[in-house]
Amino acid sequence: MVDVILGLQWGDEGKGKIVDYLANNYDIVARFQGGPNAGHTLIFDGKKYVLHTVPSGIFRENLLNLIGNGVVIDPTTLEKEIDVLKAANVSYQNRLLVSKKAHLILPTHSLLDAASEAAKGKEKIGSTLKGIGPTYMDKTGRNGLRVGDILSPNFREKYDTLRNKHLKLAKLYPEVDFDLKSREEKWFASLETLKSLVTVDGEYYINKAIKAGKKVLAEGAQGSMLDIDFGTYPFVTSSNTISSGVCNGLGIAPSLIGEVIGITKAYCTRVGGGPFPTELFDEAGAELARVGQEFGATTGRPRRCGWIDIPALKYTIMLNGVTQLVITKIDVMNDFDEVKAAVSYRYDGGEHDTLPFDINDKEIIPKYKTYPGWNASLENCSEYDQFPDKARSYVEELETLLEVPITMVSTGPDRKSLIIKNAIVNA
Ligand code: GDP
Ligand code: IMO
Ligand code: MG
Repeated sequence: MVDVILGLQWGDEGKGKIVDYLANNYDIVARFQGGPNAGHTLIFDGKKYVLHTVPSGIFRENLLNLIGNGVVIDPTTLEKEIDVLKAANVSYQNRLLVSKKAHLILPTHSLLDAASEAAKGKEKIGSTLKGIGPTYMDKTGRNGLRVGDILSPNFREKYDTLRNKHLKLAKLYPEVDFDLKSREEKWFASLETLKSLVTVDGEYYINKAIKAGKKVLAEGAQGSMLDIDFGTYPFVTSSNTISSGVCNGLGIAPSLIGEVIGITKAYCTRVGGGPFPTELFDEAGAELARVGQEFGATTGRPRRCGWIDIPALKYTIMLNGVTQLVITKIDVMNDFDEVKAAVSYRYDGGEHDTLPFDINDKEIIPKYKTYPGWNASLENCSEYDQFPDKARSYVEELETLLEVPITMVSTGPDRKSLIIKNAIVNA
């Protein structure tokens, strides 16, 4: 079976931490979509690691980590991550597998990303500029290069054809500052590292493993509200971030999907442009950003902050078929006198619990419920029963509103700061 962990908001829900925590219960951790736009933070033994392409099971010794066909890979970023693993003495060599069908991000994809954003001006997506959009465009446009192509005798020819096409396209956009020559040199040099990894026919590999009784944990990147089909389009990423993406991104059948573990912060954040109905522009928002240290793990940009958004979560729970929920960063609200949750929206002169198609153009006024804060540290709580009553009430209120069991509550960035609320399948 394949269990799935994914984000239910606009990314950065704490997926990396939860995958790392649960990984020991699995044989394989697999990324199924996205690329180095992701930044998954793991903190343990006083050290912090940020993973972009490598699955978050890599620090758990006995399991395999697969970069699935649905992922887009920039060999340069991957090499940097591998250097960090080497420095930390992590044996990755036979534990990090790459699907031959994963697409490659070329330097000119990153150039096109920057140029396309520059052309959009004020309407820009706020992309991480890692080349994600242009690479998925070439994939669906049937022009892309894949990991398995690197060994082809005419790889350089294929590369040059695509690169030259990109340069022609770039002429349609404003000029951007981009040192293509140096980027290309680094890119080709880093191909050697990619070649040194074990490449597999990911779909055969994973299905054979499942048949042999191995347990797989699929690790989502981004969040469901950034899904290419169901997110706040066009302010989204270019892949299917929801659970259906696991099937395409790894080559497994829907019937093999078991638990779908959805992660949400106890509040909400977004980095980049696009609608955010519960965004706060007041002291409470600034406090969430300050205490939660809300800066992008990939770009360092400040994250926008707001209250938790129940209609948006109900939407993403529906899309993903979430079977259990994890609440993260509840500790960030420890010193709040009161906390709020948006329970419905007002737009078009009425009250709604659904997101409108034209969410980007409408004024959406959230209706909030207010709950008393717990004004206490959760640091010394090792069990859910030790939570202050008011913190428990907030968690249980979320559970009632969302109609899915909350199985874990994260109380700090460290691997150890995790409270198991209910018995969980596999944990
Ligand atoms: P991901 O992209 O979903 O893996 O999340 P990120 O790593 O981008 O962002 C989550 C941030 O919150 C990281 O800095 C984590 O170290 C931190 N974090 C995760 N869980 C908690 C928590 O329960 N409390 C606090 N205070 N920080 C947390
Ligand atoms: P993790 O996996 C938060 C956002 C960008 C931008 C939009 C499109 O760490 O949760 P892209 O680079 O894909 O063209 O950007 O999506 N975005 C993320 N926001 N966390 C992420 O990943 C993100 N990956 C992309 O900020 O708004
Ligand atoms: Mg992140």
